[in-house]
Amino acid sequence: MKKTATDNVFNYDAINTLFHRRSIREYDDNEVKKDMLNVILLAAMHAPSYENRQPWHFIVINDEMMLNFLKDSLQDNIKINSKAVIIVCADTKKDNQKGWWIQDCAAATQNILLAVHSLGLVSTWYGIHPVKHLKELIKKKFNLPGNIQPFSLITLGYPKNEVKHELIPSRFTQEKIHFNGW
Ligand SMILES: Cc1cc2nc3c(=O)[nH]c(=O)nc-3n(C[C@H](O)[C@H](O)[C@H](O)COP(=O)(O)O)c2cc1C
Repeated sequence: MKKTATDNVFNYDAINTLFHRRSIREYDDNEVKKDMLNVILLAAMHAPSYENRQPWHFIVINDEMMLNFLKDSLQDNIKINSKAVIIVCADTKKDNQKGWWIQDCAAATQNILLAVHSLGLVSTWYGIHPVKHLKELIKKKFNLPGNIQPFSLITLGYPKNEVKHELIPSRFTQEKIHFNGW
């Protein structure tokens, strides 16, 4: 039987993955295969969400023409040079306008970054919410219905240059940990 990227999806070491993931902003020309995108989106949809409402939607852009369209639209704000982009959005009707969608979409976005890294690809999270002009631009360019809010934009693909996935020891800050109270 033909092997797909989903076959060993449960074998990845999550801790190792989250320690070594980095934001990488330069990509080569290799396409991100559809079965990889499916694993990444499956990971996104496994994020926790308020009352398990799963308000997210994902706009996947991997068509050359659409990538160029996005590149032109965002040129002053976000450098698009990857072969795939995912825009994480929320259906605000799903959380009765309470605002939980922001945390739900952040969890889904982080799952995407970790899944991408697990699969040997790289990515960067670009904030869309709460930047008004970016939100308006995405809403307009992609004809989003009124109840759909864009949250983040993730560029992903194969790295242009060799990536040194090193631990960053300085990120552990003892002073930021408060056991049993501030
Ligand atoms: C909410 C959010 C918004 C971000 N927006 C941008 C952005 O607009 N441009 C960018 O280059 N990186 C953006 N990043 C990536 C951060 O710069 C990056 O995560 C941070 O510098 C830490 O580096 P690391 O991801 O390699 O650990 C964003 C990250 C988050 C979580």
